[in-house]
Amino acid sequence: MPKKPSATKKSAKTLPAAKPWEHAKSGEGSAADPLATRFVESLSFDRRLYKHDIAGSVAHAAMLESVGLITAADLKAIMRGLAEIQAEIEAAGPDYGAAWPGWRIELEDVHMCIEAALIAKIGEPGRKLHTGRSRNDQVALDLKLWIKEASAALDQRLLDLLRALLGLAKLDGTIVMPSYTHLQRAQPIVVGGELMNWLAAFQRARKRFDALRAVNDENPLGAGAIAGSSLPLDRSHTAAALGLGAPAPSSIDATASRDAAVDLAYGLSMTAMTLSRLAEQWIIYAATEFGFITLDGKYTTGSSMMPQKRNPDMLELIRGRCGWAYGELVALLTILKGLPVGYNRDLQQDKKHIFSAYDGVMDSLEMAARIVATTRFNKERIAAGLGRGFLDATALADYFVVKGGPFRTAHQVVGALVRLCESRGQHELSQLAVEDFNAACAAAGLGSTLCGKDVYDWLGPENVVRRYRTAGNAGLAGLETQIKQWTKALS
Ligand code: ARG
Repeated sequence: MPKKPSATKKSAKTLPAAKPWEHAKSGEGSAADPLATRFVESLSFDRRLYKHDIAGSVAHAAMLESVGLITAADLKAIMRGLAEIQAEIEAAGPDYGAAWPGWRIELEDVHMCIEAALIAKIGEPGRKLHTGRSRNDQVALDLKLWIKEASAALDQRLLDLLRALLGLAKLDGTIVMPSYTHLQRAQPIVVGGELMNWLAAFQRARKRFDALRAVNDENPLGAGAIAGSSLPLDRSHTAAALGLGAPAPSSIDATASRDAAVDLAYGLSMTAMTLSRLAEQWIIYAATEFGFITLDGKYTTGSSMMPQKRNPDMLELIRGRCGWAYGELVALLTILKGLPVGYNRDLQQDKKHIFSAYDGVMDSLEMAARIVATTRFNKERIAAGLGRGFLDATALADYFVVKGGPFRTAHQVVGALVRLCESRGQHELSQLAVEDFNAACAAAGLGSTLCGKDVYDWLGPENVVRRYRTAGNAGLAGLETQIKQWTKALS
């Protein structure tokens, strides 16, 4: 049997200083148990923050020099060392330079690995970098910088999706189709009118990410571990250098709040939710029973058993991945619930959840944009069913209103006319005669001359979509205006 390692019996003095910041402790520190080392580390996921960590350190060092806490020569050495480290990490292959030898799990995280590498590289000046700083304000800063960058990347992906939706609206937008409420036929609209629904929703998603950048713009750096510092740190200096707003007003809040992360996770969840609704809508439209759209073959898959299948798997995965984003949001909120003020190690887990939610939603957005760009609406197939469902019933009630009837009475009259059609085995209101309309009006007390031949200009889906005139309507006029607005906004 191999001999048991006797590390646990050695005194702290004889152990190599794996964690230099644990020197002063009487015990041997977490490095003495491999499980503890693995349990406490965040390097496996937070090395993704290396660029943000280095940017924060550069700003911090420049500030230290500006207030006289380090010399110009120290600053020069630190800047050179950090630039070299960044280049080494970038040369060390995929997964955030996973092959860089400076990633040492026993140092716990990205912050300590980079600092240790800096000290190894430049010596004494490297030992001054952490002056007035704690990993608590350091990681809060790194995360904020990452969230800023992530929300800008999300904006770009959303923009791509909006452009694809607008492109489709320009191609197939004027095709007349039924709209649905309760998934029952409602009123006629045009395809572009429905596409405008998605444009509006995804544009709101962009605004949500803009807003989170604005709300979470304060600089945590200089808050230290919890209480600030007795050194003359200039927090406005680092804020300006990092493109952030004012110094965060409370050092305690600055180190321990993760509001920005929750805002991001919520924005991602809302985006995923809208994506899942679009996916579901189009899964329905792609079903044989509807046949409203044809998906590009690249974005459907076959069945291992049923040779005829063209399954909308990409859309289904977009729909299903919504749960992924929600899960990360709930995980994050749950980590934060009931945490006492100040930094607690629970917070280290935050990054896992927002990185994961972000990766999932970014991917779904890209997939959705490709699907939208290659999908076409089937004009003939949609037209073939347009005569069903009395889509023009509301327009007929509007006609009676225009002729002077009260809407509530008009509603009753049209209801009676629909029943009349059904009793005769007809399924379109335009199959009725002027006399039928007037008889129904008379029965409701509207007189027998309300309706004229012009009623037929109000009937039939094609006529109805030409009549909508309210702002933002889903008919032809609304589409024209909205296409103009979006073309301008997205160019
Ligand atoms: N890796 C840690 C995190 O992500 C850094 C902060 C550690 N701070 C501390 N006081 N132990 O939260």
